[in-house]
Amino acid sequence: MNHSARGDAGKRAAAEAAWAFLEEGTVLGVGTGSTVRYFIELLAQRRPRLEGAVSSSEQTSALLRAAGIPLLDLNATGPIPLYVDGADECDPWRRLIKGGGAALTREKIIAEAARRFVCIIDPSKRVDVLGRFPLPVEVIPMARSLVARKLVELGGQPVWRDGVVTDNGNWILDVHNLRIGDPVGLERAIDQIPGVVTVGLFARRPADLVLVGGERMPEPPP
Ligand code: A5P
Repeated sequence: MNHSARGDAGKRAAAEAAWAFLEEGTVLGVGTGSTVRYFIELLAQRRPRLEGAVSSSEQTSALLRAAGIPLLDLNATGPIPLYVDGADECDPWRRLIKGGGAALTREKIIAEAARRFVCIIDPSKRVDVLGRFPLPVEVIPMARSLVARKLVELGGQPVWRDGVVTDNGNWILDVHNLRIGDPVGLERAIDQIPGVVTVGLFARRPADLVLVGGERMPEPPP
């Protein structure tokens, strides 16, 4: 089995394992990406009785619509019992890098609104220290260069994801060569730069539970 086939099997297994957490009759938050796509396929096949879903991207909204699941406005739902989403990297404390698919801002909003955030990943996403995957930062277009200079001061090498416009009309900087020893501190520092909309570090509000393939990731070391 090649690397990508193994990754696909892991994604599929994680999506299947997340099914056990679904509560019928409630609102579901749905993330973005290829792993979540497997979860939406299950929703389409099994048709659980849901009040509806809050979507994290236009891409996910289209998939949910095709699956016949009603889309709900977060302003009308209040707190969400369950949010299911993937990640680009995950450390032992369930802190994440997200935003490879440019959906980080809506993903972070839904994660904050969620009582339980179940993260589904294949084993290649597990790392001991975050930062191998370039850290996505969504920026207001006029602030791109300013934010890039500040990110260099923080030790990173930002690269503009040229040609990509987020669902919110903003741009993405991918920050390379960070070894993130203090994810909460770095999240806070980047959040404070004027022009930053969202940093793709999910450390202050990590996942509550991570499914790596079909297996639940063990509790973090004390
Ligand atoms: C979307 O912006 C990301 O946060 C995704 O959750 C992340 O990139 C995982 O995507 P895959 O499931 O496609 O690896």
